[in-house]
Amino acid sequence: MTARLVVLASGNGSNLQALLDASQSGELDATIVAVISNNADAFALTRSTSSGATTIVVAAEPGELRAHYDARLADACAEFSPDYVVLAGWMRLLSMAFLAQFPQSVVNLHPALPGEFPGTHAIERALQAHQRLGLGRTGVMVHLVPDEGVDNGPVIAAVEVPIELDDTLESLEQRVHAAEHALLVQAMQHLVNAPRNP
Ligand code: GAR
Repeated sequence: MTARLVVLASGNGSNLQALLDASQSGELDATIVAVISNNADAFALTRSTSSGATTIVVAAEPGELRAHYDARLADACAEFSPDYVVLAGWMRLLSMAFLAQFPQSVVNLHPALPGEFPGTHAIERALQAHQRLGLGRTGVMVHLVPDEGVDNGPVIAAVEVPIELDDTLESLEQRVHAAEHALLVQAMQHLVNAPRNP
């Protein structure tokens, strides 16, 4: 059965685009039933609107407690009865107030290998490790988000991305993003095609 995905995105949305394209071409047996952003200026919203997907902004109120925001966000997602909630460039930490509503169903994409460079600026930090310590590769992973651990959880798919001697941040970012677009679609194909426990 075609899976229902809600995608959360905070910024450019190139990974959202990869999912929209794969869904539209039939490569991924899934419908993106809604795209939600915390950022009203996110280019992801333009991509989503152009594709015809339901597009929603859930912005945090000034001073709003994280648990309160997360509960509102969970309600907004739950309206779409998603099989999976995909964090594709979602740049807010999610607490159990959100995660407990979607057990085994929240999927995160991170531009580093499991256990490496959690948090923001992961690609930049990998390039610094290359320059200082000779790190020869970084990578990309897609994992389930069972709890509040940052960029950490059961890995669905991961792939190494080489760091070249003459890489700049731009050239490495480009290579990592290309790897992400492919890996995210692959990981979601794997999930939607696998039988789920009731
Ligand atoms: C991607 O590189 C994604 O892996 C990263 O943000 C970027 C969003 O790009 N996410 C994280 O760093 C999460 N810790 P996009 O908006 O073009 O998809």
